[in-house]
Amino acid sequence: MGRLWRMIWVVVMVIVMVAPSSWVSWNGGGGVECRKTVRMLESASFDYPAMSCRSHSASILDYGGVGDGKTLNTKAFQDAVNDLSQYASQGGAQLFVPSGRWLTGPFNLTSFFSLFLHKDAVLVASQDINEWSVIDPLPSYGRGRDAVGGRYISLIFGTNLTDVVITGDNGTIDGQGALWWQKFHGKKLKYTRPYLIEIMYSENIQISNLTLLNSPSWNVHPVYSSNIIIQAITIIAPVTSPNTDGINPDSCTNTRIEDCYIVSGDDCVAVKSGWDEYGIAFAMPTKQLIIRRLTCISPYSATVALGSEMSGGIEDVRIEDVYALNTESGIRIKTAVGRGGYVRNVYVKGMTLHTMKWAFWMTGNYGSHADTHYDPNALPVIQGINYRDVVAVNVTTAARLEGISGDPFTGICISNVTISMRKTKKAPWTCTDIEGITSGVSPTPCALLPDQGPDKAVDICNFPQESLPIENLQLQTCSYSHLT
Ligand SMILES: *[C@@H]1O[C@H](CO)[C@@H](O)[C@H](O)[C@H]1NC(C)=O
Ligand SMILES: *[C@@H]1O[C@H](CO)[C@@H](O)[C@H](O)[C@H]1NC(C)=O
Ligand SMILES: *[C@@H]1O[C@H](CO)[C@@H](O)[C@H](O)[C@H]1NC(C)=O
Ligand SMILES: *[C@@H]1O[C@H](CO)[C@@H](O)[C@H](O)[C@H]1NC(C)=O
Ligand SMILES: *[C@@H]1O[C@H](CO)[C@@H](O)[C@H](O)[C@H]1NC(C)=O
Ligand SMILES: *[C@@H]1O[C@H](CO)[C@@H](O)[C@H](O)[C@H]1NC(C)=O
Repeated sequence: MGRLWRMIWVVVMVIVMVAPSSWVSWNGGGGVECRKTVRMLESASFDYPAMSCRSHSASILDYGGVGDGKTLNTKAFQDAVNDLSQYASQGGAQLFVPSGRWLTGPFNLTSFFSLFLHKDAVLVASQDINEWSVIDPLPSYGRGRDAVGGRYISLIFGTNLTDVVITGDNGTIDGQGALWWQKFHGKKLKYTRPYLIEIMYSENIQISNLTLLNSPSWNVHPVYSSNIIIQAITIIAPVTSPNTDGINPDSCTNTRIEDCYIVSGDDCVAVKSGWDEYGIAFAMPTKQLIIRRLTCISPYSATVALGSEMSGGIEDVRIEDVYALNTESGIRIKTAVGRGGYVRNVYVKGMTLHTMKWAFWMTGNYGSHADTHYDPNALPVIQGINYRDVVAVNVTTAARLEGISGDPFTGICISNVTISMRKTKKAPWTCTDIEGITSGVSPTPCALLPDQGPDKAVDICNFPQESLPIENLQLQTCSYSHLT
């Protein structure tokens, strides 16, 4: 905008601001414009918590965005990001999305950049499939999960970035997934469904204070990345919707997921690291992960799943203060012959579970291979799995722990766990090909998990004392202030 134009604009806005509201609404057609302007002014200045603050501010309105729910804003978003990327070396930029319904196709993010959604801003994903470009499958998966070959790019996508914040005052991203679920069920997909947010090969990422609705598939997918905070996210999808996993840290290091509320059709959190021979070759584990203060409702899936794609390895996972209601299982480890990799040093402390098929579940025969070329000698190593301080009620089976014949799951430790069973004829514990110990666990565990006596519950299966580097990262208070 030219300097003169900007001055006129400011004068107009000041007039609008001081005008009585009766004048604004009385002013017929022009009144709509004025009301919009007043609202923009009101929301043009605020503080928010973030990993890093930005020196340059802009609004999507500066780039021709229209929040009427009908106008397509893909170009406005991509133009905004491309233009704001020029500030990367000058303190970075923040893009504000005001109240409104912002229809958009997918767009890419840039480094040293923050996206902030106003509490009444809704990014609405376009249902025009031509808007969705197709990108390569993930190298650690070898193929898309829905179909062999490429995958539709995610609504908000970033790759090879440093320092990205996606946040808001609980603003909303609506994936309008129903169309995609229908195509998936009808086997009409040529490529794998898009996710809502995917960040690849990046570091220093914050995704926080947002509500994500009806994702076509997974909701939040950080992959091949490190130093990640995912905080105060509400995720909602129908409990019967296919593969609407909440948060999937995948081949990531140093990740903190906290204060999230998830209702979905698949695992609330699914920790991953690549699939069979592709994941083994890529060899990028997920490690240093903390998940805390998670609330989950997912009647057909797990509160936290580890796998089934775990071929690059999963280690040093800490899970604390979890509440799950009407969810199929508490913690579930899923793997198979051919996966290779490992899941080791997992620590869970403090779960309250209500209405559940299995509080603890480990599956060594999950199957589900990328293709037929997996190595049948690639056996996963599952070792050092610790659960303590769990209370569960209305549970059908306390634990179903099934290792692999000739490849037992070892170092399982369960202490201070009270599970109140539903009245059923089922045995509370099913254990095969596993080794470990228990203490202070009720109902009485299976013989493969011998009880060490109740007093041992105080000092076994302990959570690590030292915190992960990402736990020490404090968010700063950042300011946004801008006149459009
Ligand atoms: C976004 O990034 C993907 C992957 O790098 C690329 O294929 C696509 O063309 C990019 N889109 C735009 C609009 O730049
Ligand atoms: C992103 O980083 C990966 C890993 O370092 C590299 O293989 C890839 O070529 C990079 N992609 C782009 C678009 O720079
Ligand atoms: C974001 O969430 C955090 C943690 O729940 C909270 O402290 C903060 O006030 C929220 N900020 C905004 C802008 O909503
Ligand atoms: C965010 O919005 C969702 C959906 O309206 C709501 O359920 C949730 O309580 C809100 N979270 C906060 C922190 O306000
Ligand atoms: C217990 O679980 C069953 C299903 O497993 C459910 O139908 C029932 O409503 C639950 N009872 C309570 C009190 O929540
Ligand atoms: C056992 O677990 C409960 C919560 O389930 C907790 O309040 C209590 O402190 C735990 N006991 C020990 C000895 O850690």
